Order: sequence, then C-alpha cells, then structure tokens
Amino acid sequence: MLSTDLLRDAAERFGTPLYVYDADELDAGLERVRAAFGGARVFFAVKANPNLSLLKHMAGAGLGFDCVSYGELCRAEFLGLAGERIISNGPAKSQAEYDLGARLGVTFIVDRVEEVGLLPPRSRALVRVNPALQISTHDHLATGSAASKFGVTPEQVPLVLKALREAGHRALGLHVHIGSAIRDAQDFTAAYARLAELRSQTGPLEVFDAGGGWGIGADLHGIAREARHAAGVFDAELWVEPGRYLVAPAGVLLTTVVGVKRTGRNFCLVDAGMTELIRPMMYGAAHPLTPLWGGTQVETWDVAGPACESGDLLARDVPLPEPSRGDLLVIGEAGAYGAAMSTTYLTRARPAEVLRRSGEWQLIRRREEPQELWQTEL
Ligand code: LLP
Repeated sequence: MLSTDLLRDAAERFGTPLYVYDADELDAGLERVRAAFGGARVFFAVKANPNLSLLKHMAGAGLGFDCVSYGELCRAEFLGLAGERIISNGPAKSQAEYDLGARLGVTFIVDRVEEVGLLPPRSRALVRVNPALQISTHDHLATGSAASKFGVTPEQVPLVLKALREAGHRALGLHVHIGSAIRDAQDFTAAYARLAELRSQTGPLEVFDAGGGWGIGADLHGIAREARHAAGVFDAELWVEPGRYLVAPAGVLLTTVVGVKRTGRNFCLVDAGMTELIRPMMYGAAHPLTPLWGGTQVETWDVAGPACESGDLLARDVPLPEPSRGDLLVIGEAGAYGAAMSTTYLTRARPAEVLRRSGEWQLIRRREEPQELWQTEL
C-alpha cells in the first residue's frame, strides 16, 4: 500500500472520496499471476475495473480482455485491441455484442445450447460449463453451483460442441468460471476435475479456459497446478480470466470523517458509502480499514456513509481510535469492483480516480459533477 504521507497528499490534491491505485502493486499482481500460471494466456476481467488507464496498463503488459457487455467491448475496441485478445462472455448477450464481437473477431463464450444459433457466422467459440458444485463463497458470487444461471451442464457439452461444428463455427474448447472471491483452492480442483472427466467425449481441444475467481490470499500456485493439469488432459492451451486478484490489492478508497454520533452505538460518519463502494452492503464484504489518525482510546465503531439508507454501513463494530471531523480513513482492497460498481444514486457524482506511477500522480478519472448526471434526461 502507498505510504500514509502519499495518501494524505492525494486527499489534499484531489479531495475525497477518492479511489487511489498503485501501479507498482498492479505490476506485482501481474508478476504473481505470471509466476504461477507460466505460459497461460491472461485475459483481464474488465468488469473488475474498466478504467481506461488501468486497461491500457494491462494491455501494455500483454493481457487480453474478458468483456461481458457491449460497453466493455466498446472499451476494448477504443483501445485498439486485436480480436484474438478479446473474449465476449455473458449469459444473455445483446445483438450489439454479437455484431461488434464479429467485427472485432473475438472469441465468444457460449452459455446455453440455444446460443449456437445466434452466433455470427464462423465464430471462434468456447462452451461454458457449469460443474454444479458447492462453491465456498457468498451466494451472489457463486456461478458454478446448480442454482446459478451460468453455463451448460456437463452432460450438454458434447451436444453443444457438435452443434457448433455443424453450424460452421470453430469450437475451440471449454470454459469454466465457478464464482468470485473464492479462497479455497479445493473448489477449483473439483471444478477442473469435473471438466476433465469430459475428455473421453470431447477428444482433444485447442483451449481450456479456467476463468478467474481467485480470492485475495488464495493459493495461486495450487490453483494454477490444477488448471494446467486440466488443460493438459485436453492437450489444450490454458487461458485464465482474473479480475479481483490483479487489481483489488492495488486500490484503496480514501474517505474523510464528517463527524461522529453516539446513540448507544458509535457511528463514525464518512463521506463515502454505498454509492462509492457497495460491496459491504451487497456481499457482506469486509474491507480492511486503516485510520490515518491516532489515539489511545479505542472503541468499536460503525462506519456509516451519507446515504439515506440504514444499510449504508461500510463496516460494523470495528475497533478505531476516536475519530474527528477531517480525519482520513483508508478502505483497502478496493481496486476491484469498487469504482466499477459505484452508482449515481441520490444524484451523487462518482468519485475521482488517481494512479500513482513512477513517483507521480496521474488523474485517471476526474470527479463527476452533479450537473453532468442529468444531461441525458429530457
Ligand atoms: N470470468 C468470468 C466469466 C466472470 O464472470 C468473472 C467475474 C471473472 C472472470 C473475474 O472474476 P474475479 O477474478 O474478479 O473474481 N461484483 C462482485 C464480483 C462479481 C464477479 C463477476 N464475475 C464483487 O464485488 O465481489
């Protein structure tokens, strides 16, 4: 993480709430992935952080993009990425996604049997398989469980591959992504093993896409070993699609204490909340908090945002020294699905984003103005 002095400097220059990223930390994440996955092709899951400057950084490092919407494909096109470096994924793609995907020459992930008939002519395609396992993550983050809407069943795989080939598409192989923020490597082992069982029916394949989903602190080498093994079973090239693992540790959300309230509970009121970081409310996510103030009297506090919603709590019952108006709080592991999921609810303009790179600040997204938010309204 960036030093306390640098974070204070950022808050002073750019104001809060503010997303702050560290390019060195991004590069460290990339290195860790490369070290674990060796020659695998890495596609960054754009959804985790679609900021153009970060995407450019990733593309410059040789990564491709995993896109899940027309808008994300537009970003890839805008950055001039070649088609073979783009994956188009999603359970309900729009016609615009097929059209732009065809123009760019992307690889489509086929998510259901019926989708074969919707693909543009002579598409490159992978079949997404749902191994229907118990996944050890929040329900909303599990995509490889039987109740999830994603992928085809293992039993349907031969049928979909056959349909793809008969329709003149290039069926490259299989894709599996079982969920997000998964720390237990066993989940990946089980999923990859379930897919490897299909080898007798599929024959050798060109590509095995092991998805992403690696939680911060997950055993990356263990996951990589299993993914490589499964790819080997199919004599296939290994592809991966990490999002969180690459960017979450490289970003923090800086917020300023607006005041305190004592009502039997202790509330530390800050200038960021559910509109800037919805993960605590949506997934019960616990982001590490670092107060940039000192004090000896430590009590437990609820950190609450400014929204008119009781659920607007960034953390509950956290030990903090007595906060005062103007103090800075650092919310960690916010580089993934933080700014990306910020909203303009309550006509709250979205925060600025800055990148620390080569000893300098780079404003990579200016703070929005409320007046911009009604420009599309008639
Ligand atoms: N590949 C596919 C097909 C995905 O759907 C996802 C994420 C990824 C890769 C990247 O997963 P990651 O490595 O980042 O875990 N908003 C939630 C996370 C949703 C993830 C959706 N899919 C959150 O804030 O935790």
